Amino acid sequence: MKPESLADATRTVWPERMKGWKARAGAGGEHPGTAGCRREEERGSVIVCRAHMLGCSGQSSSICGRAIVVPFGRAAKKADARLNATNNCRGRLQEVIWTKPHLLGIQDLSGEEILHILDLAASFKEVSTRSVKKVPALRGRVVVNLFFEASTRTSNSFALAAKRLSADTMSFTSSGSSVSKGETLIDTARNIEAMGVDAFVVRHSAAGAPHLLSKHLKCSVINAGDGCHEHPTQGLLDIFTIRETMGRIEGLRVAILGDIRHSRVARSNAWGLTKLGARVVFCGPPSLIPRDIREYMDVEISHDVDEVVETCDVLNCLRIQFERKAGNYFPSVREYAAIFGLNGERMKRARPGCIIMHPGPINRGIELTPELADGPRSVILRQVENGLAVRMAVLYLCVGALRGHAGAENRDEG
Ligand code: CP
Repeated sequence: MKPESLADATRTVWPERMKGWKARAGAGGEHPGTAGCRREEERGSVIVCRAHMLGCSGQSSSICGRAIVVPFGRAAKKADARLNATNNCRGRLQEVIWTKPHLLGIQDLSGEEILHILDLAASFKEVSTRSVKKVPALRGRVVVNLFFEASTRTSNSFALAAKRLSADTMSFTSSGSSVSKGETLIDTARNIEAMGVDAFVVRHSAAGAPHLLSKHLKCSVINAGDGCHEHPTQGLLDIFTIRETMGRIEGLRVAILGDIRHSRVARSNAWGLTKLGARVVFCGPPSLIPRDIREYMDVEISHDVDEVVETCDVLNCLRIQFERKAGNYFPSVREYAAIFGLNGERMKRARPGCIIMHPGPINRGIELTPELADGPRSVILRQVENGLAVRMAVLYLCVGALRGHAGAENRDEG
C-alpha cells in the first residue's frame, strides 16, 4: 500500500486546538519536511513533530504527522500553557524517544511515556475513521497472539490493530497445541519465534509469564494480561477513555469497584492513573482487597459503595472472577450484588458527569445492572473502540524500538 502524501496527512490531522498558533511551517501548517524543520530550528523555533519524536521517517509522518512550530521564549511558554490548559496534561511538548521493545506493565512506565502512548493512540484513532482503515507502518513485520487464557476483546483487538498497521498476524491458543504434550512456555515461544516473529502478544494465567519470555526471546513481548499482575493495554485504554470523556486525568477521583484481589486491570489502572495525578480508590468487600496493597500502591481503600458513588468522577466496575474462585470470598452472589453492585437507585446520588466503565466481560446483574451497562453514563463500548487505537500505538512503538524505527527502509522527506 502506498503511503499517502505527507502534506495530505499533516493537513488532514492538523489539530483543532493548534489553530491560531504561530505556525511558520508552510501554508496551513503543513509539514515543512526535514530541511524545512532545520531551517525553522536555525531561525530559533522549536519543532514539535510526532514524526521527529519517533525518530522520524516519512512513514510515521504519513500516519500521524504533525508539524507544530512554536517560537522560543515567552511565546513558547504561552503556547505550552495553552496546550496544557486544553488537555490538562503536563509535558505534552516534551520529546519522548521510545526505546522500550517490551510492554510488560504500566508500573514500568513514566507519566510522560504513558502520555506519549495516549497521544499516539489519539492519532491512530483517526486512521479508523478513514475509508481505507490501514497504514503501512508495520508492513513486513509479524505479530503473534500467544494466548494461554480465554479472551474476546484483547485478542481480537490486538489482531485487528496489527492488521491496521499492515503486519502479518498469527494466532496461537494453547488448546489444541503441543502444550498438551508437555511442551514448555519458553520452548513453545522460541519455536514460533524461529518462524520470524517480531512481536508476541502474551496472555497467561501465571503472573510474570511475559517477563520470563522477554528474557528468552529476541522479539518484542507485550503483556496482554498475566495472572493477577497487570493488563497494561487495558489500563492504557481505560485511561485514554477517561481522558477523552472527562477532558483530563489530573485531579479526578476514580473508583475501581469489586474484585480487586484478582484484578490485573485494577493494578494497571492504579499505576497509570496515580502517575498522571488522579486519586484512586479501591472499593469492595474487605476479603476482595489485599490487606497489604497500600504498602506499594498510592490508593485509598473503601468498603462503602454509596460514599464512593457520591464522590467519584469515574466508576470502573470489575468482574467477579469466578474462575479464580472469587465466589469463595463472599457469602452469596445475591448479597454481593445488593451491597457492592451498581444499580439505578445507587446511581441517583452520583455526580452529574460521572461515567461507568467495565473492562468486560460483564456479569450482568452482579457488578452492575443491565440498564446501567447499556445506559447513558456507560462508556463500556467506547473503551473497546479505544482499545484498538491504543494497541496500534503500543505495537508501533515496541516493534519500532526493537528494529530501529518501523518503516525505516521506506523513508520519505518527513
Ligand atoms: N478486558 C479483557 O481483557 O477482555 P478479554 O478477556 O475478553 O480479553
